[in-house]
Amino acid sequence: MRTQVGIIGAGPAGLFLAHLLKAQGIESVILEARSRPYVEGRVRAGVLEPGTVETMARLGLDARLRREGLVDEGLDMRFRGRTIHLDLPGLTGKSVMIYGQQEVVKDLIAARLEAGDPLLFEAKVTGIEGIETDRPRIRYTQDGEEHVLDCDFVAGCDGYHGAGRAAMPRDRMTLFEQAYDFAWLGVLARARPMADMTYSNSNRGFALCSRRSMQVSRLYLQVPAETRPEDWSDDRFWEELHARMFDEGRSEIAEGEIFQRDLAKLRAFVAAPMQHGRLFLAGDAVHIVPPAGAKGLNMAVADVRVLSRALTTFYRDGSCAELDGYSATCLDRIWKAVRFSSALTGLLHRFDEHTPIQRGLQLAELEYISGSRNAQASIAEQYVLLNYLPGHD
Ligand code: APR
Ligand code: PHB
Repeated sequence: MRTQVGIIGAGPAGLFLAHLLKAQGIESVILEARSRPYVEGRVRAGVLEPGTVETMARLGLDARLRREGLVDEGLDMRFRGRTIHLDLPGLTGKSVMIYGQQEVVKDLIAARLEAGDPLLFEAKVTGIEGIETDRPRIRYTQDGEEHVLDCDFVAGCDGYHGAGRAAMPRDRMTLFEQAYDFAWLGVLARARPMADMTYSNSNRGFALCSRRSMQVSRLYLQVPAETRPEDWSDDRFWEELHARMFDEGRSEIAEGEIFQRDLAKLRAFVAAPMQHGRLFLAGDAVHIVPPAGAKGLNMAVADVRVLSRALTTFYRDGSCAELDGYSATCLDRIWKAVRFSSALTGLLHRFDEHTPIQRGLQLAELEYISGSRNAQASIAEQYVLLNYLPGHD
């Protein structure tokens, strides 16, 4: 089999890249190791920045998003029993949309298959060859058989454990990494959500109330990294959430059946550069952010917007200038997003190693944000617009 761009991974990075290339008349094949139900069932974050929403609209992939997505105009931060309200349109002129990442993935897969374009499930990439030539080759297995895909370019959109980064020359790459010793226990509950996205810093640890619809809440608690989700009964979860959200009367947060539980370990990670020869990496393959701020999906979409434009320029003019600049262009924004997600994590979580003065400084920063419109504008701008890329496409 032969194509122009061989894409490894059918997560947001690979799927958006395939659709963006197709819109420019460039062919691709997506190879995905997992099954379709597995990929569509992975519950992740659900905050779409305007750059992501507008990309879906430009691609004509936003019909269900417009019907079912919820516009979110507020971001609240609680501490000491008080609430800082960030009015996103007032501070940035824009808002974000709440729409689960797996819903985005479902919409992009359905559109790809409906158009009859190649997307192979249970096709695991085992090797990438010839990335320093102009005829790279991807080896993959499907149904127990080995296959090859010849292409002009390889896009490694295959996440943190993928084959893309593994094929980069080790001595050319620098890895930056920080692991946290706590995790987020996430649940989905059939319960009326709070009106605004609400983050809380309490003495008992971090909590977050988000939503997926007017009937489904998406809720998170900071827990030790080795926690087993099944050890958290519904009662235990609700009691802890009320306490951390300063909802002492248990009257503010509606309870309901918890029907899904997952654990996300927290990590910050950047790999540089993002390109070698004809191999380009995007999304979680080259950067992971801690989940506060919900940047992961939006960063992946911004990466592949830059990559698809560079590939378009190459196929149209034969110019490699944009492709050569891909890594530097993306890393500038990626570092800012990693910095923002790490800063928000530091601001809102409980750190066991904190001395009383460090806890005092954390609360002082929240007091400062509470009284400063400039500080609020800075957070809102980074929450909403970090991956906007105005005028890019
Ligand atoms: N061969 C084929 N597919 C592979 C291989 C392989 N060897 N290794 C991994 N994959 C697939 C995974 O099964 C997964 O579906 O690559 C896909 C990568 O998708 P994601 O992990 O969703 O990563 P990405 O598309 O970069 O999306 C970034 O999604 O992962 C979340 O939290 C992350 O929000 C962020 C965003
Ligand atoms: C979510 O809705 O899943 C969500 C919201 C905000 C975050 C992270 C996740 O910071």
